[in-house]
Amino acid sequence: MKKLRFGLFENAQANDSGTATWRHPENKRDHFDRLDYWLEIARMCEDAKLDFVFLADAWGWSEVNGERPDVTVTESLDLPRLDPAIVAAALAASTSQLGLVITGSTLLEQPYAFARRMATLDHISKGRVGWNVVTTGTAETAAGAFGIPMVAHDDRYDMADDFMDLVYKLWEGSWEPDALERDKQGRFADPAKVHRITHEGPYFKSDGYGQTSYSPQGTPVLFQAGSSDRGVRFGGTHGEAIFLGGSSIEKMAEQVRGIRAEAVNQGRLPESIKIMSAFSCVIGATEAEAAAKHRAVLDAQDPAVAVASYAMFTGLDLSSYDPATPMTDLHTELSQTQISRFAGLTVGDVLKDWHEKGVRGTPFVGTAEQVADEMCMRAEKADLDGFLLTPLVQPGSTRDFIDHVLPILRERGVAASEYEGETLRERLIGTAPTLGEDHPAARFRAARVSAS
Ligand SMILES: Cc1cc2nc3c(=O)[nH]c(=O)nc-3n(C[C@H](O)[C@H](O)[C@H](O)COP(=O)(O)O)c2cc1C
Repeated sequence: MKKLRFGLFENAQANDSGTATWRHPENKRDHFDRLDYWLEIARMCEDAKLDFVFLADAWGWSEVNGERPDVTVTESLDLPRLDPAIVAAALAASTSQLGLVITGSTLLEQPYAFARRMATLDHISKGRVGWNVVTTGTAETAAGAFGIPMVAHDDRYDMADDFMDLVYKLWEGSWEPDALERDKQGRFADPAKVHRITHEGPYFKSDGYGQTSYSPQGTPVLFQAGSSDRGVRFGGTHGEAIFLGGSSIEKMAEQVRGIRAEAVNQGRLPESIKIMSAFSCVIGATEAEAAAKHRAVLDAQDPAVAVASYAMFTGLDLSSYDPATPMTDLHTELSQTQISRFAGLTVGDVLKDWHEKGVRGTPFVGTAEQVADEMCMRAEKADLDGFLLTPLVQPGSTRDFIDHVLPILRERGVAASEYEGETLRERLIGTAPTLGEDHPAARFRAARVSAS
C-alpha cells in the first residue's frame, strides 16, 4: 500500500463545515482570533510531521429569504472570521517544514494582487505554500458585500480558468527563476530575465510586470475540491491535490476514477493528481467511550444551526419545504454538490443529517485500531493518496489522532515518520519543487513564450 499523506483541515473562525461545536467544553477554537491558538496547532502538526495545515475560507454568510438568521451570530456560524493568508504568514515564521495551504477565491480576489500575496508567502516560507482554488459556492451574499454582480455556477469556473491563466503568467512567465543576481558589485537582477506579461482574457486583463520574483515553487501547490462536472473538469486541468468530501467508498472510488480520467483527457498523468479525502473520527479507548465522546459533541450543538447552515451553502431554506420533498426537486446556482450528494433522500432526512455532520462525512467512531483499519481500507478501495483530517473539537480531535492512530499507521508502514523533501510540492506531490511540463501553467514559462 502506498504511503499516505495527511493534512489538517482548519478554519480561522469559531466553527466550520456547517456545524457549531464551539460550546464543547474542550474546544479551544472559540479563540481562533488569538495567535496562541494557531501557534499551538502548527507546533502540534509539525511535531507530528503532518504534511500541511489547510485553512479553509469562505466569504458571505447564510441568508434565508434575504435575512441573516440570528443563529449565524449567536452560534458564530459564518461570522466572524480572519484572513487565512495572514494567519499562514504568522505560521510560516513559527514553523520550518509544515506545509501551509490557504483558500483563495477566483470570484472575489484580484488576480494581480493575489499573485503577489501567494508568491510572498512562498518566498518567506521557503516553498511551503499551497492554494485551494475556490470559485465561491457562497457567492450570493459575498457578491453583494463586494458590490459585484452574481455569477452563475459554470460561468464562475470559466472565470476561474481565466484567473488561472493570468496568475500563471505572473508566477511562471514574468520573472525567470535565475533572474536575481544580488551581486553588490554588479546588479540586483538581470533585466533580460524580467518579462512584461499581457493578458486580455474574457474576465481579467493585465499589462505589466509581476511584482514578485520567481518563488521557490513558482506556482503554489494547487488544491481544488469542486465535485460538479464542471468542477471536476477544472480540477483535472489545474489541480495537483484534490479534496473529496468523504462520502461512501463506492462514491469516492467513482470520483477518483473520474478525476484521474479527466487528468488524462487534459494530457496529464493520472497519478500526477493526489487525491485526499476528508476524514473525521472520534477515538476512544473502547467503542463505548468513543460513542459517548461523539454524543457529547452532538449535544454541544444547537439544532437551529442546520437550517441556517444549509442556506449558507445553497441559498435554500429547507424549513420552508415539506419534509417529504425529494432533494432532487431542488435547484441552486450556489453549491450544486449540496443537492446532488443527497439524491434519493428527502428534505427532512437532510436536515437531520446536516445537524449531525454539516458538510463533513459521517465521523468514524471507534478505537484507534479500528480507525487505522478504516483509513487503510478506504485508501485501498478508493485509491486515495491521503486524508484531510477534519476535527470536531480542537485541538483534542487532532491530538487523539496524532497520539493514538498515527503510531499504528507508522507501524504498518503507511505513514511517514519524517519530512522528505524541502518544499510542499516535493513532499506531497513527489515531484520537483516547480510544476512539471505537463501542467498547463508550464506553457507560460518565459523560455517557452519567447521560443514560440
Ligand atoms: C474538503 C473540502 C474543503 C473545501 N474547502 C472550501 C473552502 O475553504 N472554501 C470554499 O469556498 N469551498 C470549499 N470547498 C467547496 C469546494 O471548493 C466547491 O466550491 C464546492 O464543492 C462547490 O463546487 P461544485 O459545485 O463544483 O461542487 C471545500 C470542499 C471540500 C470537499
